[in-house]
Amino acid sequence: MDQLPIWLSLRERSVLVVGGGEKAAAKIRMALAAGAAVTLVAPRLGPEAAELARAQRVRHLDREFADADVSGHAIVYGATGVEAVDQAVAAAARTQRVLVNVVDRPALSDFSMPAIIDRSPVVVGVSTGGAVPALAAAVRARIEAALPARLGRLAAFAESFRSAIRAKVTDSTARLRFWQRVVSGPVAEQVLSGAEARAHAAVLQSLNAAGVGHVSGTVHLVGAGPGNPELLTLRAARLLQSADVIVYDRLVGEDVLGLARRDAERIFVGKEPTRHPVSQDEINALLVERACAGLNVVRLKGGDPFIFGRGGEEADHLRAQGIDVEVVPGITAALACAAASGVPLTHRDHAMEVTFVTGHGREDGAEPDWAGLARSRHTLVVYMGVGRAGEIAAKLVVHGLGSSTPVAIVHNGTLPTQRIVAATVGTLGDAIAEHGVTNPAVFIIGEVARSAQTDAPRVKTLVRAVAG
Ligand SMILES: C[S@@+](CC[C@H](N)C(=O)[O-])C[C@H]1O[C@@H](n2cnc3c(N)ncnc32)[C@H](O)[C@@H]1O
Repeated sequence: MDQLPIWLSLRERSVLVVGGGEKAAAKIRMALAAGAAVTLVAPRLGPEAAELARAQRVRHLDREFADADVSGHAIVYGATGVEAVDQAVAAAARTQRVLVNVVDRPALSDFSMPAIIDRSPVVVGVSTGGAVPALAAAVRARIEAALPARLGRLAAFAESFRSAIRAKVTDSTARLRFWQRVVSGPVAEQVLSGAEARAHAAVLQSLNAAGVGHVSGTVHLVGAGPGNPELLTLRAARLLQSADVIVYDRLVGEDVLGLARRDAERIFVGKEPTRHPVSQDEINALLVERACAGLNVVRLKGGDPFIFGRGGEEADHLRAQGIDVEVVPGITAALACAAASGVPLTHRDHAMEVTFVTGHGREDGAEPDWAGLARSRHTLVVYMGVGRAGEIAAKLVVHGLGSSTPVAIVHNGTLPTQRIVAATVGTLGDAIAEHGVTNPAVFIIGEVARSAQTDAPRVKTLVRAVAG
């Protein structure tokens, strides 16, 4: 490490900026944001600097730089872009022992300016010591995306409990644990999602409870999307990084789980179409038990939790037990597979409506209304239909859908193993058998499926079965 990162308090102190262009304006803005008074030395000002020069805390000296200007300032910026002047500013600052930064000239600078992510009071600075500012900016962009927008609110929220926590939790180890829970547990998630009143009540309740240090957990029902980790929401990715426990399904792959905290507990509760290794009651009980232990639980489901994912049943059960639930949507298979196969689900000429339907009938024999769904100018996306493809197609034809209606069969949509098979309603069952299509797959049925891009670059196996 060639430079020491420090956060310098500039309130009630003054900063000298030499130069009147855009780069000088950026330094003035930064110094004002940090609470400093600014002396600006420049015989000419650009529009931004001229605007800033009117601010109350800026004193503009309308002339060339003189060595004596440096005296009495906390730090000095040389931002003229004129080599001789910048060198003179640096030399004067060094002689008078005032720290100096000359814009774009690390060799003349005592300190460099980091790329800043500002979630005040949380501030992150990224520095390459002035060597490669573009790299610092690229790293900043990644951190910007990873840090929640309301992080500053969380800091202020935590700060407001500081003295109460110190008074109530006297043991230092217990206090550290309590703080960890507040800043990275369910309470933190409540603050970050805007539910500050609930978070406030939870901390108060926990502080007043006999077993001080306990904050009851939240369960986040999180959509993991179709399997490609690039298709997770930012919130899903962030929750994975902060979860204590991740309860996940069969369709959630290692690529997505790889984003989780290394030490998080992972519990697989996958269901095969014909086998239920962990019953729904057991899953519900597990979620309740972990949340009541104060853990931050992510219930990770393929696609969207509220589309054929039993998310509604789990949410109802948890709420009935008094546990906070947050639902984080995910990209459902229909949308992902449509995009992956280049099929628009609606189209002004071909489809004015779209229906997502399950092909998996219920144990009690309940079925979707196939008669109502067999209509033209309509797109039908069938989930979980592989085992009954021929039967579903036959029902649609009986109710009037043309057997030449195009179908795109998308298996493992968005994953490297994606396959797209083109068929028609009349050949659907045979196409599934012939090409050995297995779960997970969706059928996109309707005129729009005619445009299925079976030559998409990601597709590993391209099969065009009997086209109508
Ligand atoms: C139990 S449902 C869950 C659906 C999920 N909640 C969603 O919103 O996508 C499982 C079915 O979703 C479909 N599916 C999920 N991921 C898929 C993918 N990557 N490619 C194709 N179909 C997928 C398949 O029809 C699979 O049988």
